[in-house]
Amino acid sequence: MPTVDSVRAAYDIASEAYASKFVDELDHKPIDRDLLQQFAAIVGAERPVLDVGCGPGHTTAHLTALGLKATGVDLSPKMIEIASRTFPQSRFEVGDFCSLRHESSSIAGILAFYCIVHLQPDQLVAAFSEMHRVLRDDGVLLLSFHVGSDVIHAENFLDTDAVLDFTFFETSQIEAALSSAGFDRIDVRVREPYDTEHPSRRGYVFAHKVNSVRSQ
Ligand SMILES: C[S@@+](CC[C@H](N)C(=O)[O-])C[C@H]1O[C@@H](n2cnc3c(N)ncnc32)[C@H](O)[C@@H]1O
Repeated sequence: MPTVDSVRAAYDIASEAYASKFVDELDHKPIDRDLLQQFAAIVGAERPVLDVGCGPGHTTAHLTALGLKATGVDLSPKMIEIASRTFPQSRFEVGDFCSLRHESSSIAGILAFYCIVHLQPDQLVAAFSEMHRVLRDDGVLLLSFHVGSDVIHAENFLDTDAVLDFTFFETSQIEAALSSAGFDRIDVRVREPYDTEHPSRRGYVFAHKVNSVRSQ
């Protein structure tokens, strides 16, 4: 079973290859750009957002360009080194989204693109609860994942020595875990893969932290 240490070590090994392959990917993904634009509009300009599991930082930089105060957070120091070097206009820090250093109710939005792929199903609620903790009331989470029930084992991820398992999730599993973590107004969308992507259907979810006093 993958551990935080094994995932960190794998992405340290694969970081340069991952950056080469994915750093320009948003240029070819109009639906993802549209979802990021919707996320930015919900959050509002100049408000603090985290891009958790940011990898080489391209989505963080995109959020910065959309006017948000974006900080990319990743487990892998090598990923953060690449992100900081490539996108000096954004902020980056090493961190674990299951144990964020940020204060409760301090963040207006969290982007989590394809970083839950290394969690086991029974770890989802704890991870989403931590994201819920740091979000302000009315804060929004946008996450993405591979839809299905497969677990893909990569022995030489991106032709490197990195070993990783990628877990797919059914949309109902994600919805249930978000709901258990306290999220509300959960809006799930699914798209077919682009030709340039791994041929899996992609799930995107907007989920909101609703003010518990006002919503009663
Ligand atoms: C598949 S990559 C996705 C990177 C980027 N979000 C993207 O869309 O290209 C997964 C990333 O999540 C990071 N990651 C995995 N588990 C993490 C955790 N618990 N906390 C922070 N980052 C994590 C990995 O280091 C890796 O950079």
